[in-house]
Amino acid sequence: MNHPKWVKHKELIKWVEETAALTKPDNIEWVDGSQEENDRLCQTLVDGGTFIKLNEKKRPGSFAAFSDPSDVARVEDRTYICSKRKDDAGPTNNWIDPNEMKNTLGKLYDGCMRGRTMYVIPFSMGPIGSPISHIGVELTDSAYVVVNMRIMTRMGKKVLETLGAEGEYVKCLHSVGAPLEKGQKDVPWPCNKEKYIVHFPEERSIMSFGSGYGGNALLGKKCFALRIASTMARDEGWLAEHMLILGVESPEKEKTYVAAAFPSACGKTNFAMLIPPKEMEGWKVSTIGDDIAWIKKDKEGTLRAINPEAGWFGVAPGTNDSSNPNAMASVEKNSIFTNCALTDDGDVWWEGKTKEPPANLTTWRGEKYDPNSGKPAAHPNARFTAPASQCPSIDPKWEDPAGVPISAFVFGGRRSTSVPLVYQSVNWNFGVYLAATMGSEMTAAAAGTLGKVRRDPFAMLPFMGYHMGDHFNHWLQIGRELPNPPRIFGVNWFRTDENGKFIWPGFGENMRVLKWIVQRVRGKAFALESPLGWMPRYEDIDWRGLENFSEEEFNDLMTVDREIWKEELLGHEELFSKLYDRLPKEFLFMRELMRSSLWRSPKQWGMEPERF
Ligand code: GTP
Ligand code: SPV
Ligand code: MN
Repeated sequence: MNHPKWVKHKELIKWVEETAALTKPDNIEWVDGSQEENDRLCQTLVDGGTFIKLNEKKRPGSFAAFSDPSDVARVEDRTYICSKRKDDAGPTNNWIDPNEMKNTLGKLYDGCMRGRTMYVIPFSMGPIGSPISHIGVELTDSAYVVVNMRIMTRMGKKVLETLGAEGEYVKCLHSVGAPLEKGQKDVPWPCNKEKYIVHFPEERSIMSFGSGYGGNALLGKKCFALRIASTMARDEGWLAEHMLILGVESPEKEKTYVAAAFPSACGKTNFAMLIPPKEMEGWKVSTIGDDIAWIKKDKEGTLRAINPEAGWFGVAPGTNDSSNPNAMASVEKNSIFTNCALTDDGDVWWEGKTKEPPANLTTWRGEKYDPNSGKPAAHPNARFTAPASQCPSIDPKWEDPAGVPISAFVFGGRRSTSVPLVYQSVNWNFGVYLAATMGSEMTAAAAGTLGKVRRDPFAMLPFMGYHMGDHFNHWLQIGRELPNPPRIFGVNWFRTDENGKFIWPGFGENMRVLKWIVQRVRGKAFALESPLGWMPRYEDIDWRGLENFSEEEFNDLMTVDREIWKEELLGHEELFSKLYDRLPKEFLFMRELMRSSLWRSPKQWGMEPERF
């Protein structure tokens, strides 16, 4: 089959031909990224019943899609790191010998694109031409994937021009695994019961089969920008992390950039687009990324970060004009909504979008919505795909090929007890320990038991491309090489009271915590010693506009309970014994130092006894 004249890369052409010979699509289309092409593909999706065009007046250029109920989130138990040696994938990943896996996949891929078109999507993760960026090519039999990739990455003809005739790229093969026999009618959301999300780190290639959803199918995102990129980063001395990137401007116009790692559906998008309370005059937050950061050391020894993505694939439920006005503005037009509910005037709705659901809703399952059924109208992991450029808070430097200088790392999960609102680790190594031992209560972003605490080191548990213990060592090594490493903080917006209600108001109010963080970085904020590190006192937080939040409530948020932390340290031990063969030896000593700190009388710390 022919390729367009603008395709010059012989090895790529050969790979496309070989893949087509195996998967046997009816057609091959090289995606150029143009508007006409996008309009045509969206029309095809509307004609096939995958897309519903939303009301052009209310939501211009936007579509709704509804997945098969068996295909609504990432499938961690079907995700594999097929390194040559099992030890290199480590105990936190599924592993199968790469040859055996290729054998299995070869059978599944044989003829799997029959009756469909195979699209060739050249894409760049990061601004085209940035020294921090990397190129990939995704072959997929899903037009839904193509139009989502057009929002989430820089894609099309211009990427192949940069790649040239022999540039390096990551091979990403994707199929929904639903071939069509002659005359067989397609379904709106083709997928396969059998799913495989497979990574070959040494080859730097990805093979995904059976799912059309999010991170399973948009292979630039978790598969490339985290799992494959983390192994590239380990080999080349940089970092690929599950982090948002934001900029904070002070009233004095000082700009500080912060990167923060929270597990899936724990508030990265909200934090990245935070709008400070109006009483905190002069403080501004700008957005660089909401999910992934690629971070490299520059010649001066500064860590500089880029957002490898070009769009948001954000959790819809809970997003509204007060929790996240910037996300709401980002999705006003040119957006794709997956598994949201539909209103009778051709718009989308989800739980939390408005206080009361509108009348005559259609659920994501296509049923008439019954508010008394106890079933939500939108799936809890319903998502929007929106261009980052439409975000009002987007930072002027968000596409700067040099990246932005990072001054602080923040780590946080959902913890109803134990972890205080905010604390600063005493140094880089303790910060790495903090990140490595992070835990979170499970959400709907992945299949699993909701609410159960699991250790999620660096918020990377589902996204690590190699041995987690090696990742800890990699971070320790990066710190050794930096003249002035970023400061490291822990946060927790999710502590609850005895009735299970969140104590901290969160969202925009998180600015109060962020201000303390950036001022600590600049040596402008006071802190007390605690068993976990440095902590603000009540009077170290800016309370303008939230004066009714009492010192007592603050103390409830900041308490480090000795009994709970003794349990918490046992949780660390459980993780450590799992990773024992490659665990940094420092960690055992740090754990013991923390344990001994817990046993000191609070008075010895020189602070209010009721808090520690
Ligand atoms: P992925 O895209 O899955 O990686 O996750 P994310 O971290 O970007 O998730 P997102 O920001 O979309 O998280 C959404 C969930 O976090 C919703 O349930 C929000 O209500 C909740 N959330 C975000 N910020 C806060 C906060 O400050 N406080 C509380 N209590 N909940 C929050
Ligand atoms: C996550 O689960 O962390 C996401 C969504 O960001 S997905 O891309 O589907 O993995
Ligand atoms: Mn994510």
